[in-house]
Amino acid sequence: MGNTIKLNNGVEMPRIGYGVYQIPPRDTERCVAEAIEVGYRHIDTAQCYYNEGEVGNAVRKSGIAREQFFITTKLWGCNGHADTVKSIEESLQRLNLKYIDLLLIHEPSGNYKEIWRAMEDAVASGTVKSIGVANFLGKTLVDLVEHCRIIPAVDQIETHPFRQQIEMQKMCERYGIVLEAWSPLACGKNNIFGNTILASIADKYNKTIAQVVLRWLYQRGIVIIPKSTHKERMIENLDILDFSLTEADMIEISKLEIGKSLFNWW
Ligand SMILES: NC(=O)c1ccc[n+]([C@@H]2O[C@H](COP(=O)([O-])OP(=O)(O)OC[C@H]3O[C@@H](n4cnc5c(N)ncnc54)[C@H](OP(=O)(O)O)[C@@H]3O)[C@@H](O)[C@H]2O)c1
Repeated sequence: MGNTIKLNNGVEMPRIGYGVYQIPPRDTERCVAEAIEVGYRHIDTAQCYYNEGEVGNAVRKSGIAREQFFITTKLWGCNGHADTVKSIEESLQRLNLKYIDLLLIHEPSGNYKEIWRAMEDAVASGTVKSIGVANFLGKTLVDLVEHCRIIPAVDQIETHPFRQQIEMQKMCERYGIVLEAWSPLACGKNNIFGNTILASIADKYNKTIAQVVLRWLYQRGIVIIPKSTHKERMIENLDILDFSLTEADMIEISKLEIGKSLFNWW
């Protein structure tokens, strides 16, 4: 599993994963196979990405033992206990895997406390190893934490240099929840790859802007799941362990916060 972080249930989660949002189903198996080939063992999919089946195919065809992988998927459109039980079963069938490593509620909609109860049951039955949430911010996260048996292991939220989530990181730490960054590279928005502050830091270390941004998140203890359909970028995004940003670099990057989402979903 390589470089991992221990979740609040003792499970080890790889700190660098590969996201497959917006990869069309026809390309997903090839991309995930390449990601596996270059070293990724943590894959982040979701029901609403419509590529769970292709992720499962790539994992099974890799010939690598299932226990070496950490596969995340996310529930979409559930409302209560019964439809969540069915939805988990459907994800397992599409993935064609015996268990899911991490199951997230994709967004705080529906009766999320009832959805959570079904997820807790899935943990008890062994079909899901860890459970968490995505896009639960502030009071919503507190509300769930105060009404659950199992504290979420992970909160996956929009986190990149323009939305740094300093307060949410403190909240997650208080509850023992691991913060996972979605769109760690800001999905290329806000001209991140042309940012002059990031470029000057990258030049110092002979690294790319992508590597500086991923390293900055990594040094903050945040799990990252960059997406790329290009093999050379998949390799580049893993290659962040041979340098460290200084405190001064971290402060420079902290100035890039813009105080709002680049997506306006949550
Ligand atoms: N829970 C949620 O609500 C939620 C929301 C959004 C995303 N996510 C998860 O987070 C993952 C990552 O987020 P994301 O896909 O939105 O965006 P991202 O990883 O921040 O950025 C992906 C974009 O950056 C480009 N890129 C990747 N590596 C690069 C590099 N080294 N140099 C230059 N460009 C590079 C990619 O282009 P190419 O593909 O052309 O290389 C793509 O356009 C998703 O795939 C998904 O698993 C979750």
